[in-house]
Amino acid sequence: MKEQLLKLEERALEEIAAIDDPPELEKFRIKYLGKKGQLTSMMKSVGGLPSDERPKIGKLANLVKINLSKRFQEAKESLFSGKVGRDGFIDVTLPGREPVFGHLHPITLVIKEVCEIFSRMGFRVVKGPNVELDYYNFEALNIPKDHPARDMQDTFYISDNVVLRTHTSPIQVRVMESRQPPVSIIAPGKVYRRDSDVSHTPMFHQVEGLLVDKDVSFGDLKGTLTSFVRQMFGSDTRLRFRPSFFPFTEPSAEVDILCVLCGGKGCRTCSHTGWLEILGSGMVDPEVYRFVDYDADIYSGFAFGMGIERIAMLKYGIDDIQLFFKNDMRFLRQF
Ligand code: DAH
Repeated sequence: MKEQLLKLEERALEEIAAIDDPPELEKFRIKYLGKKGQLTSMMKSVGGLPSDERPKIGKLANLVKINLSKRFQEAKESLFSGKVGRDGFIDVTLPGREPVFGHLHPITLVIKEVCEIFSRMGFRVVKGPNVELDYYNFEALNIPKDHPARDMQDTFYISDNVVLRTHTSPIQVRVMESRQPPVSIIAPGKVYRRDSDVSHTPMFHQVEGLLVDKDVSFGDLKGTLTSFVRQMFGSDTRLRFRPSFFPFTEPSAEVDILCVLCGGKGCRTCSHTGWLEILGSGMVDPEVYRFVDYDADIYSGFAFGMGIERIAMLKYGIDDIQLFFKNDMRFLRQF
């Protein structure tokens, strides 16, 4: 019996060393360690041995069982570990790890939505540099050196005539400079101002729009922006065009929507006016056309610019602009 046991062990070890796929391993288990397996039946017959042999053989049988079980476990782990095994084997039946999906930042989502709405109306998405010449950021937008409008925007200067753009409007000039009408573009991007408190961050985002062609009127501006606002905030959104001033548009108008929080009754968010300003706009000032060689007698157009954070805050009901840049996952996961 001792001989038999040792032979069985030798055979089993040889067999298991050659096994390289799970079905073979399972066959091995049944053959030796299963209920009716060879080792199991030998162990059963230990009971029928003479009493002086029983303890020795019983002990040996146990050792063989422990050894084979251990080898079986090892073989199983190496075959099923998910690592590429001896023969490049991967167990595809194991449950996979769930991939972690990231998602888009709320600012990215709003930029995408704004650009999609204007793209559907025929505007082309373009970009411009963040580090901009004074000429494009101010000069060619009819904001000369000592113009009081430069006080409105606290500028980061890189050098005397290079700035971090304070708005996306310089992209208008770059586009007009590079081609003749008709043009219709929408230009998203980062802008920078020396400002930081609950409602201001030194970097924020704007989207600029420009359309120039023959016979473009203020009615086109109103129709285009009304359509945009209704697609962005809902088809029954009430809005108003309020006279305003920008050096690069004449006439100029700011667009307000009825306060999304109080519905126009007046609350803290809308400073008790019932209205929320969402963008600046106007008919491109003929002064600007002089800088880009457009003939103001033939062409006219409108432009607009909006703050993305502001739109996102109104759309999602967020009251602190800093949240967009703190990277708190509890905030970001909600979008
Ligand atoms: N650039 C302006 C700002 O940052 C926004 C603006 C107003 C853009 C009127 C325009 C416009 O294109 O026509 O406040």
